[in-house]
Amino acid sequence: MKKVHGLTWTALVLWMLTVGVGSYYFVFGTTVAGVDKRTEVRLNVHEREFVLNEMRTLLAELQRVVDGLARDDMKAVSVHLSNMGMKMAADDSPTLLGKLPLGLKTMGIGLHKKMDELSEKVAKKQIQKKELLQELSNSLSVCVSCHSTYRISLSPSIAPVPRQK
Ligand code: HEC
Repeated sequence: MKKVHGLTWTALVLWMLTVGVGSYYFVFGTTVAGVDKRTEVRLNVHEREFVLNEMRTLLAELQRVVDGLARDDMKAVSVHLSNMGMKMAADDSPTLLGKLPLGLKTMGIGLHKKMDELSEKVAKKQIQKKELLQELSNSLSVCVSCHSTYRISLSPSIAPVPRQK
C-alpha cells in the first residue's frame, strides 16, 4: 500500500473541519437562547438592518396585495406578490445566511417561493379570489410562527456604543 503523505492527511483534516464548522453554522447559525421564549439570532448592525428592512418591505407589499384585492386589480396583486417572492432573497449574503438558523431559512424561503407561485397563478387566472385569500392566510401564519420563534439581537462585539452625555 502506498504511504499517504502527511500533507494529504493535514489537508483532509482541514477539509473535514471546514465542512464540519460550515454545517454547524448552516443548521444553527449564530443563535443563543433569548430573553423571552424565542431563539435569539445574533447579527451585526448592518445585517440586522438588512433583515428588518426586508421585513418592512414584506409588510408594505402585503398591504399592496390586499389593496389590489379590494379593488379587483389582479394585475397589481400579481406584481406585489412577486415582489414578496424569491427575488427578495437574492441579495442575502453568504455570511448572513450562515448566521441564520436552518429553521428560519426554511420558513423564509418557503414563504418567498409560495409568493412566486401565487403570483404566477394570479397572472394566469388559475386561482379564485377566495382560494387566494385562504392561501394568503396560510402564508401569514408563517410570518406569525417565525416571529414567535425567533428574534434578532446585536452581536455584542459590534453593538453600537451608547453616546456619552
Ligand atoms: C423566517 C422568519 C420570518 C418570516 C417568515 C417573517 N418574518 Fe418578519 N421578522 C422576523 C424576525 C426574526 C424579526 C425581528 C423580530 C425581533 O427581533 O423581535 C422580524 C421583524 C419584522 C418586522 C419589524 C421590522 C422592524 O423594522 O422592526 C416586520 C414589520 C415584519 N417582520 C413583517 C413580516 C411580515 C409581514 C411577514 C410575512 C409576510 C414576515 N415578517 C415574515 C422573521 C420573520
